[in-house]
Amino acid sequence: MVNLETTFAGLHLKNPLIAASSGLTNSLKKIKELESAGIGAIVLKSLFEEQIESHSEKLAQITDYPEAADYINAYVEMNHMDKYLDLIRSTKSECNVPVIASINCYKLSRWTEFAKTIQDAGADALELNVFVINAGEFGDTYLEDSYVNIVKELKKVIRIPVVIKMAKNISNLPGLAGKLKSLGAKGIVLFNRFYQLDIDVKKMEITSGPVFSNPSDFSDTLRWTAIVSGRVHELDIACSYGVHSWEDAIKGILAGAGGIQLCSVLYEQGLNVIENMLTCMEEWMNQRNFTTIDDFKGKLNYANISSPSLYERVQFMKYFSSYK
Ligand SMILES: Cc1cc2nc3c(=O)[nH]c(=O)nc-3n(C[C@H](O)[C@H](O)[C@H](O)COP(=O)(O)O)c2cc1C
Repeated sequence: MVNLETTFAGLHLKNPLIAASSGLTNSLKKIKELESAGIGAIVLKSLFEEQIESHSEKLAQITDYPEAADYINAYVEMNHMDKYLDLIRSTKSECNVPVIASINCYKLSRWTEFAKTIQDAGADALELNVFVINAGEFGDTYLEDSYVNIVKELKKVIRIPVVIKMAKNISNLPGLAGKLKSLGAKGIVLFNRFYQLDIDVKKMEITSGPVFSNPSDFSDTLRWTAIVSGRVHELDIACSYGVHSWEDAIKGILAGAGGIQLCSVLYEQGLNVIENMLTCMEEWMNQRNFTTIDDFKGKLNYANISSPSLYERVQFMKYFSSYK
């Protein structure tokens, strides 16, 4: 009998499939639907640092009484927070699925205080989406330092597991992952998908790119999952970005992931895809006499294959030299 139970960031999951933070996780109704569809955990829609700040600013501008601005700003922040906390509380009381709250941040500020209230509301863990772009105005290690400082500060405030949703453009990903683990982070998500942009050549304007990922995006996720999992021990990894099929989920686990986050595929194929994926994963495990996820988790990671170079540069040369 196949058992799909797994752990991610210290949480017990009935299966590795996690609904990634998105519009599909922003209400109790939608979360209940995800739970009925069989999901193993959910990451709530992020509370955005910018969203709170810009909303506050706009409201402050429409008042003629500058002295009211502080009051209004505080009210707006609390209102946003109250709704978020209510969602955590109601999900915890009406669902059994583990709830990972999410904050999208870019600097150390008052949101770290909010993290404590998120914990008190009953969230099982907190995922941080650190959205920092260094367009040349900061030093070389600004991005990495931001992750480190944020985790350091947060660990002073909360005891629930902290999960970091990583950017792709980190120069030494295993090194940073190891540092975050030593600071107390329990898991990382590979990767965050930044807002995609494009250029409209007719209008010569910046536009937005596709909202959803493609199956071909998964290759990078897989490579780095395998490398980090082989290099950094006892740090749970969830694959994200480009998971579009049950095969991708199996590949992610073989590369060393404990959790598999789904987003685009849920939007594009609907929630039934969860059950289909779980059934196919069970079948695949059955055929190979694997009874638990641990039987094959990390089997093909960087540390466990005889030629780790398969994940590295030499493959690049082979790959392209076969094309004439
Ligand atoms: C409509 C939509 C809303 C999203 N909102 C958030 C969010 O609030 N916070 C966050 O960390 N990621 C958010 N994401 C990113 C997803 O969580 C995920 O990282 C990304 O879509 C890559 O995974 P995928 O390839 O499975 O789609 C959103 C994605 C979509 C498509």
